[in-house]
This record gives sequence, structure tokens and C-alpha cells, in this order.
Amino acid sequence: MHIAVVGSGYVGLVAGACFADLGHDVILVDNDERKLAALKDGQVPIHENFLPELLNRHRGHRLEFSADLQEAVRASSAIFIAVGTPPTDRGDADLSYVESVAREITGAINGYKVIVEKSTVPVYTSEWIRRIILRNGADPESFDVASNPEFLREGTAVTDFLFPDRILIGCNHPRCCAVVREIYLPLTSGSYYQRTDAIPQPDRATIPPPIIVTSTKSAELIKHASNAFLAMKISFINAVATICESVGADVTQVCHGIGTDTRIGPRFLNPGIGYGGSCFPKDVMAFRAVARECGYDFRLLDEVTRINEDQRERFLRKVRSALWTLRGKHLGVLGLAFKGGTDDIRESPAILIVQALLQEGCKITAYDPAAMERTQEIMASGLKFANSAYEAAHGADALLILTEWEEFANLDLHRLQQELKYPILIDGRNLYDPEVMAAHGFTYYSVGRSASHPDGVPAALKAELKQAALKNGANKA
Ligand code: UGA
Repeated sequence: MHIAVVGSGYVGLVAGACFADLGHDVILVDNDERKLAALKDGQVPIHENFLPELLNRHRGHRLEFSADLQEAVRASSAIFIAVGTPPTDRGDADLSYVESVAREITGAINGYKVIVEKSTVPVYTSEWIRRIILRNGADPESFDVASNPEFLREGTAVTDFLFPDRILIGCNHPRCCAVVREIYLPLTSGSYYQRTDAIPQPDRATIPPPIIVTSTKSAELIKHASNAFLAMKISFINAVATICESVGADVTQVCHGIGTDTRIGPRFLNPGIGYGGSCFPKDVMAFRAVARECGYDFRLLDEVTRINEDQRERFLRKVRSALWTLRGKHLGVLGLAFKGGTDDIRESPAILIVQALLQEGCKITAYDPAAMERTQEIMASGLKFANSAYEAAHGADALLILTEWEEFANLDLHRLQQELKYPILIDGRNLYDPEVMAAHGFTYYSVGRSASHPDGVPAALKAELKQAALKNGANKA
């Protein structure tokens, strides 16, 4: 099928590349000429596994880049809108980009078109798109509007797109639904997964993915409610972690105990410094605003946001209590991205913590496997960058872990301990076992677990670890 994808941001770019991989002819439209030139030139603007392969595979064949929206609409049967919906000052989503795309589409309708809303938008957006297109003179029989929210996560975007938990289609007309179903047929029929050049299957994939068909309003609500629920799960466990800390319980054990209830499940129960990124903070606020508009005071969502913000403040208090005064202290920081596996620093709790510590007069040397370049673009002077975790730790008064990169969970603890001026590690992502850290000579603070100290380690554990280290010739945890 001929498909236009409007907006080459995270969702648009990944969707466009994946649709091409499913066998469709795709035109990716953007009004940023520099971005288009870079994409045509083979550059990949985001750090995402398998995306460079897919772009290389299809660029110039099944995947074209263009600034001409109307031309792309004329050439396509389905037009996906994947433009940004940034928050306004009031917390609701700014839909002006969506509206202007809808207006522009109208003038290029030259046969039956399905317009598919892919960005995360509030309920009623599909209805508004329809209304705007009609208002601008389109024949009501010449188009339909569907909602097809995207559930991909950054860092695993391509795999999430091609191996989704479910494909959600919101449409109010069978002919429109048939078009969107056809686009995803290689996934829902399972034929894509039999191809030798298919992107490798991740753990836990549901093959073939189920398709869920709803009204457009339900689909729009499903996306907002899903993100709000996931954010609530994180805030809930962060609140439980706070209680664990004050009573001396261990949040890891508590999570295991809660998560084994199949109705709750173990995933998304990792306490830490709070959620960030371009979706959860914005979507929780936008859903809150939708509820307000509908006359429902969804205060639970205020609390989700409040707990999330408190979590950063709580972490800062932990740093202060570990180091006493902060002015002039030298800190090593591991992680700047809002989560592991991405170079995205939008609403990153790690960046917010680094900014607060710099303001308090700390000197910081940071390392992140992917996000240092982006950080450099937005951070004023005062922050130094290192080439490795060990370089960041070198000579520091303490080391902070702020992003859950896998690399940070597998450090050579003996080497790390040697690099630090004082062996103090404050872990905002619970990547290590407190007893193991203490046995390696660290004073170790984490979230929802008691601090551990080298003097508190049982002699038997110390001997066991020493033995293991000698045997392996390494001191990894
Ligand atoms: C999120 C959703 O997971 C996707 O399903 C959705 O499609 C996407 O938003 C979107 O609306 O576009 P993403 O923002 O990429 O995806 O990141 P997540 O993996 O959900 O993580 C969000 C934040 O929560 C990160 O800061 C992460 O560190 C934090 N987190 C996650 C925790 O603190 N604890 C957890 O247990 C899980």
C-alpha cells in the first residue's frame, strides 16, 4: 500500500521505516528541510537499535523523504499523522500541528483516503480532524479518520513496533478499518515473522499480535489511560519504597512479593528517581486535563505527578545526608538519559538532579553511553564529561547512578572502588545488591533499601567474595 507518514519524529520515523519493512511504499513527510537532508544523506537522528538497518534497507526504494505534504497525500491511500503534541502552559496537549496537517491534507484528497492519527492525543481529536477536513470543503465520502495509537518504547522502538503486545485500531467505519487492518496484515497473519530478514524476535513476543478494534474515542482513551496507569505503577512503587526505607524493609523483596500476584505482575515495579521522558510526564498532565474538561476531577493523577517529583527531591536529600555539605564536592555521575538504551534527555530525572547539584555548588563529571552530546547542547558550563564510568568516578567524593544502563549494572567493582576518593555509591536505580557492595568496600545507598556499609558485612560473605574474585580473576558483582 502507498502510505504517507507526516512527522519524522520518534514515532513517525520508526513507523515509516517499519511500514517499509512490511512491504509498503512509504513517503515520510517533514517540514524541517535540514532533518530531511540528513535522512536522505543516510544519517539517523535517534539512537535506536535496528533503525539504521531498516533505513539503509529501504531508503530510496520503499522509503522516500519529502517536504511536500500534498504531493505525498495524493500518492497515498493512508496518511498517518505523527506530528508533535507538546504540552501547553495549562498542561493540555497543543494540537495546532495536528490541525494544520489536517487542513493541508484537505486540498490534496483525490480519491478515498484514510487519515490515521498516530500521535498520542486527547479523546475527540479524530472527530476534530474529521470536522476540520469537512470544514475545508472535502466530500464526506472521500475520507475517514482512524486512531491507531503507538505503544513503542524508546530504546526498543523498532522491536516494539514489529512485535507489539497488541495493535489497536479505533475506527467508526468498516471500510476504514479494513484499510488499517491491511497495513498490519504481515504482522497479524504472522507472515513477517517467517521472513529470513525479519528483525530478530525479542523475549516475551506475542506472535501473531492480537488486533483490537474499538471506536476512535475508545482508542484515544486507551493510549492515555495506558500511559497514566504505567506512570501510576511507578509512583506507587516509589511511595512503597519510601515506606520501606523508613521501616527498614527491602523494596526488592516487597516488589517480588507483590509482583508474583498475576493480577499485578512484576514489570514496571522498579523504584528509582522517578519517571521521565517525552511521554509519561506530558501524558499524565494531558489526561488530567482531558478529565477536567469532561467534568471529572482526576486527583489521583496529581498525586502520581507529585510522588514522581518528590522522588528526585528525596534522592537529593540522600546525597546531602551521605556527604553533609555539597559546595565544592566532586561527584561522578553515571547516566544522563531519561532511561537506559536511549540518548533522549527530554524530562530526564538524571538531568534535573545534575542541574540541582550544580546549583548547590557541586563539581560533576558525568558519563553516559549515548546522551552526552545532547546534554552538552543544553547544559551551561560546569559539567565535565568522561569517556567511561571509571573516568567519571576518578577522584570523586561519591559516585551517583542516575540511569539504568545495563553497562552500569556490570561494572568492575574493585576498579571502581580504587578510582573513587571515597568509596561512596548512591544508586538511584537499584542496580546492585547492598551486601555485595558493602563487601567490596562501598558505603552504598539505594532506593527503598537500607544503606549498607563495609563494616556491616558478615565475615563469611567477605571471604566468599574474595574467593570468587580470586577464582575469576575479576571482581565484578
Ligand atoms: C512510554 C510507554 O512505556 C510506551 O508504551 C509508550 O508508547 C510511550 O511512553 C509513548 O507514549 O510514546 P518510554 O517513554 O519510551 O515509553 O519509556 P518507558 O520505558 O515507559 O520509561 C519511562 C520512564 O519510566 C523512564 O524514565 C524509566 O526510567 C521509568 N521507569 C520505568 C521506572 O522508573 N521504573 C520502571 O519500573 C519502569
